[in-house]
Amino acid sequence: MVGEIGVRGVSKSFPLEGGDVEALKGIDLNIASGSFISLIGPSGCGKSTLLRLVAGLVEASEGEITLDSRRIEGPGCERGFVFQEHTLFPWLNIYQNVAFGLKMQGLYKERKGDVDEWIETVSLKGFEKSFPHQLSGGMCQRASLARALVVKPKVLLLDEPLGALDAFTRMNMQEELLRIWAAHRMTMVMVTHDVDEAIYLSDRVVIFSPRPGRTDEIVDIELSRPRARNDEGFIFYRRKILGHLNFGGIRKDPNYSI
Ligand SMILES: Nc1ncnc2c1ncn2[C@@H]1O[C@H](COP(=O)(O)OP(=O)(O)OP(=O)(O)O)[C@@H](O)[C@H]1O
Ligand SMILES: [Mg+2]
Repeated sequence: MVGEIGVRGVSKSFPLEGGDVEALKGIDLNIASGSFISLIGPSGCGKSTLLRLVAGLVEASEGEITLDSRRIEGPGCERGFVFQEHTLFPWLNIYQNVAFGLKMQGLYKERKGDVDEWIETVSLKGFEKSFPHQLSGGMCQRASLARALVVKPKVLLLDEPLGALDAFTRMNMQEELLRIWAAHRMTMVMVTHDVDEAIYLSDRVVIFSPRPGRTDEIVDIELSRPRARNDEGFIFYRRKILGHLNFGGIRKDPNYSI
């Protein structure tokens, strides 16, 4: 198996006028190859920064990140990335956007069929000739997913990939992600703010503390798949994770009473 990620003693600060911003502090994390991990935590705690570090888009201030025991020193095509905001090229249509990675790697002629296959998988058949501005946010997000997957990465880094979708499309896309994950056995690391989504999809949920982000708790989701959102086991994990995030009970200081 390939796609094992090691994060050892990683801290990241960004220089800013008036003092550095400490985004992450002392992160240690082992992500087994072929596993599905979710990162969850308050806004600004460094989740996207950690994904960017694994992608090789930014450099750690301290510590090291490895992929299959090799130190990550920059971006590589074995790591796919779906960004928080879609990053489709506005001047290319959906087909050209999805085909982009294969063309860059000189694999397009050989694997042309994969482009159609992934467009179909993310339910964008019929929109090949549309440009990003002609699609909804959710459709663009799905196109970004197809663009990342077409090159068959070992590791897929997903930054709130389903955040722009309505609740029902989102649950369907969660199934799709699981199907892709099960079929290709790639390592998936996903940032989400949705506790149910994290439990539904993941082997492990990593809970971050507020900035500077540290790993507050790692919860192994010991439920077989497919999972049911209303099962007792599922609800047990929902309670546990919401409790860690301090959303587990009735608020002590509500500014209303009914
Ligand atoms: N390029 C940058 N330059 C300066 N500061 C940055 C940069 N990228 C991130 N930061 C800072 O690092 C901190 C963590 O940011 P990050 O985007 O990783 O948070 P996040 O957990 O993904 O938040 P959200 O849930 O809102 O997406 C924030 O305080 C942010 O302002
Ligand atoms: Mg983010």
